[in-house]
Amino acid sequence: AKKPILIEGAMPIEVQNFAKKLQNVKEEKSGKFEFYKGTLDHYPVIVVKTGKGMENAAAATAVAIERYKPIAIINQGTAGGHDPKLHVADIVLGEKTVHLASFKTEIKGEGQGVDTTQWKPMDLMASEGSGSSSDAEKIRYYDADQDLLSAANAVKDQYTNGKVVEGTIGSADIWNNELDRIKYFHENFGTSAEEMEGFSEAQIANEYNIPFLDIRVLSNNKTNDGAYNPNTAGPCQDYVYNVVKKYISTK
Ligand code: 5AD
Repeated sequence: AKKPILIEGAMPIEVQNFAKKLQNVKEEKSGKFEFYKGTLDHYPVIVVKTGKGMENAAAATAVAIERYKPIAIINQGTAGGHDPKLHVADIVLGEKTVHLASFKTEIKGEGQGVDTTQWKPMDLMASEGSGSSSDAEKIRYYDADQDLLSAANAVKDQYTNGKVVEGTIGSADIWNNELDRIKYFHENFGTSAEEMEGFSEAQIANEYNIPFLDIRVLSNNKTNDGAYNPNTAGPCQDYVYNVVKKYISTK
């Protein structure tokens, strides 16, 4: 039997549209994680509703990998813009993902305050030890799988709600609304958008050596007054469906 492609989404609005497009769907559950097992062009595809946030995303990914042995993983859903040139409904293909809450702070005494701009990035995968090797102070990026990225680029003209660009997607259990903080990440981490799942899924996929891509539609963009629009999630799934079709055709 063919190994399935796994499509991940955090919220119901980020998975339902995709799950509805599958044939022969069977639902399974593990804890709160919901899996929709079906086929697309006779190819096995599994959609998982992970729930929101880094922990749910990582755990759901590990459970899905152990249960279903996917050949590739695409995470998709909504995100907030960090780039003023991107607008609500534009899609970012996560050429890279990065953690936006993994830091070591400066040493400061009582009354010396807090300065998040001085925090050093902390790469938790740099070493097995607890030491402060210089490697551990580098920003950890996970690269997208090139075949998944090529498939996504190949069908980008089929997305008509906005543009589709490559970029770096940042993740943390934080919704940033401070423009200076957003600008800090945009300039220092190269982020185009932020969300709450992608990096942790990329990390687990990497640990199991499974191709991964994060695809995110902007549902909001504080940098240019782009108001929150959850209806962006549906068309993003239509696009990801085309990406999967394209990817399957090369397998
Ligand atoms: N910041 C963080 N997460 C966001 N999401 C959408 N926009 C943002 C944003 N500006 C996504 C997250 C999470 C839920 C809150 O929506 O991935 O699942």
